[in-house]
Amino acid sequence: MKSIILWLTFGILTNPTCSEVFGWREWWKGTVIYQIYPRSYSDTDGDGIGDLKGVINRLDYLQDLGIETIWLNPIFESPMKDFGYDISNFTDVDPIFGTMADFDDLIADMHSRGMKLLMDFVPNHTSNKHMWFQRSRECNDSSNLYMDYYVWADMKQGCVESDQNSHDKCVPNNWVSRFGGSAWEWDTKRKQYYLHQFLKDQPDLNFRNREVQEHMKDVLRFWFDRGVDGWRVDAIRYLFEDVLLTDDPINDDFYPQPNHQAQYNSLVHKYTADLPEIHPIIREWRAEVFDKYSSLGNYRFMGTQSYGDAKTLGLYYGTEENPEADFPFNFQMIKISPESVSGFEVYRLIHDWITNIPDGAWLNWVFSHHGKDRIANRFGEQNHRAAVLLNMLLPGTPNVYYGEEIGMTNIEVKFEDIQDPWGKNNPCCWKELNRDKVRSPMQWDIGVNAGFSTANHTWLPVNQNYKHAINVQVQLEDSFSTLRFFKKTLQLRKKFPAFRTNTLKYSFVSYEVFSFWRIPDEESVSSSSFLIAINFSNKSIKADYVKHFMPADVNLNTTYGRIKISSSMTRDEEIVDLKMLHLSPGEALVIQSYAIRTKTRRDFKHDLFYCFIYFMCCIHYNESKFDSN
Ligand code: BGC
Repeated sequence: MKSIILWLTFGILTNPTCSEVFGWREWWKGTVIYQIYPRSYSDTDGDGIGDLKGVINRLDYLQDLGIETIWLNPIFESPMKDFGYDISNFTDVDPIFGTMADFDDLIADMHSRGMKLLMDFVPNHTSNKHMWFQRSRECNDSSNLYMDYYVWADMKQGCVESDQNSHDKCVPNNWVSRFGGSAWEWDTKRKQYYLHQFLKDQPDLNFRNREVQEHMKDVLRFWFDRGVDGWRVDAIRYLFEDVLLTDDPINDDFYPQPNHQAQYNSLVHKYTADLPEIHPIIREWRAEVFDKYSSLGNYRFMGTQSYGDAKTLGLYYGTEENPEADFPFNFQMIKISPESVSGFEVYRLIHDWITNIPDGAWLNWVFSHHGKDRIANRFGEQNHRAAVLLNMLLPGTPNVYYGEEIGMTNIEVKFEDIQDPWGKNNPCCWKELNRDKVRSPMQWDIGVNAGFSTANHTWLPVNQNYKHAINVQVQLEDSFSTLRFFKKTLQLRKKFPAFRTNTLKYSFVSYEVFSFWRIPDEESVSSSSFLIAINFSNKSIKADYVKHFMPADVNLNTTYGRIKISSSMTRDEEIVDLKMLHLSPGEALVIQSYAIRTKTRRDFKHDLFYCFIYFMCCIHYNESKFDSN
């Protein structure tokens, strides 16, 4: 009874206002980064491909949703072999997307709304149509100013020019391209091989060349001068390769598949990825460019894109003395599959990241992007809202891929229709690798092409589920829709101090449920805390969150709570007893309650219990892994 009274009083007394707690240098901590794949967002000129004007037209929608930061995939001049990641001119806009004037309009419009724009910086490679490459291939002679702009190598000793097609025999070494096949391509003009970690149309820049380094800093400056607020740095782990061109070791854990070309995973990329020389380059970008521009009063953000284990990725934060990225994008959640998803697996991946990155480093989460399955396909449709909620309410900065706010799903593409070079080059594994499936046009309404374009033919097919409520228009009108759910979650995130900390407290109740507390930093009686509980299983689960209230340095002052958000949106504002909380299959709840941090040392009894639960979950996890093999 005492707890109920406390709870009810608390509900009335506390109505925290949303104050801007992050300083101007930290705006990227309080924001949500919304990723727009511009080809697929909104087409205004009727060519079936999205453009910059299309993005401008949708700013009202984004602002109303509560989005403050947009990351745009590349819009630079490009032959589009890798849909913009093959850049032929770093300082102009490709006509497919519009003009520089459109870009200036976009940024002006965004800034007038207090929004920030991040762009995609692609330092590792250019298009083979870039002037630097055209000049570089002219001759291998010091009179050629561009001679060393790319990574060139002779054919193996004993080979003659007519052998050049016989890759296995004559290529400089065994390095494999990320997109399949040898990483070397013969150039008939220069009569040497050039390196490409991606497509042969994307030759790798030679980052050991000082001029290349300087040019790339100028690219950053060019766009900073136009007002860009920060960058997502593409494919950073490939910036350097071993100067001696040593063969990469064979990966003993790799099982080749029928039909395969030299596959990327057949090697351990010891000499072609994550070389230590990358870090001084990032520090230089930070000190010489980002910090200089930031000192003018608008902090410029840097996020790096790379894959690898959490420890390796954690290095991209740099150190306090030598800072690098504000954060490396965290792809742990991309490792979830419909088969592996469970409360414990989610916990394991989150915990792995948090414990392996530098202490106190700011967190962030990526649940889907332009290269990996959409959330509904990865977590299962039943768990889509649970994953959205997790993304939004875990500590740190959420990254949201366009369309996730309405629950868009992958499209089916036939092999013969694939546009994505990664899918095309890998007949063995195209279903898994092709990225078209997650790049389909944004679903705006129930009109032609889901309101994306008036063209007869869009560059990728529109997912037909737009006719069945997966579109913005219908969902805006439905108070129980995924879009309304997304918006409500985002509002909650912005409103309460508990969601601005960089910490969480796990609360273990079972293998199937992932649950955690968000508690404000201050020992203040007026701030709400939240229990987030998600049931990733197909069965109903009733549990006692008080008995299992793990953290020893936190006091729970009531055993009741008020549901602020439920994934079904039918339980919102219900008062629940945390001692017997019921979750239906796939259900996610955000419960406002009253817990405060204390200065108490960790309690030995709690620690023992924690270890026991962890141990039991590990056994369960290993058994279920074993079962599925
Ligand atoms: C991007 C891909 C691109 C590749 C080559 C990746 O990191 O996410 O879309 O194909 O870099 O630039």
